[in-house]
Amino acid sequence: MQTHSHFAIAIDGPAASGKSTIAKCLARELGLVMVNSGAMYRAVTWKILQMGIDPQDATAIVAALPLLQLSCGVSGNYSTVSLDGKVLDEELRETIVNQSVSIIAAIPAVRNMLVQLQRDYLNHTSLVMEGRDIGSIVFPDTPYKIYVDASEEVRAARRSAEGVTDSVAARDKADSNRNNSPLIVAEGAVVLDNSDHTVASAVAAALDILRSQGLAMHD
Ligand code: CDP
Repeated sequence: MQTHSHFAIAIDGPAASGKSTIAKCLARELGLVMVNSGAMYRAVTWKILQMGIDPQDATAIVAALPLLQLSCGVSGNYSTVSLDGKVLDEELRETIVNQSVSIIAAIPAVRNMLVQLQRDYLNHTSLVMEGRDIGSIVFPDTPYKIYVDASEEVRAARRSAEGVTDSVAARDKADSNRNNSPLIVAEGAVVLDNSDHTVASAVAAALDILRSQGLAMHD
């Protein structure tokens, strides 16, 4: 929900579509904070695995949620996620997290907890938030929404170029087919096909979309 003078730019899309890169560049260009909502789902997943809980055991996961010492902040222009007072970083990209995150992200209680934390950011700052349900669920009222897409080949190639073992197709299938907050093109979102863009041309295209959606910019 939009509050006061702060506003949100919602960037959604499938895994490895390039939305993080675009969101980061937009935030830099526009002087906003970039919030990576996926890092929050990854942090919960990492901790659940650390606790030895089976990612398929939704009852045990829901019971563990109140015990998690999860806090979300900002460092420079980027969001941070801490667990037990420690900022998480590389742990969030571990293969085991990639394999389990979409299962845990489908649990409604997990989503409710994290959506609240995501909305809380807007009490402090204007932001660019990237994820799967930012334009549809987290900030449905924002006029600024982009859905970043790219072909499956391009996305799989991007992940392997990063040296990460990640079943992008399996995660996308799970994220798109779940009942709760599936990955969709939100109402009002403009699709940006990032298959053949350079970073610079993708960011320019995103800025054009935001301008067309009414975002005032000092060019
Ligand atoms: O960076 P990448 O697109 O690979 O993934 P991510 O943004 O780090 O998100 C990891 C996983 O978290 C996704 O595959 C979803 O299962 C989940 N997620 C979600 O359900 N909703 C969001 N707003 C963000 C992420």
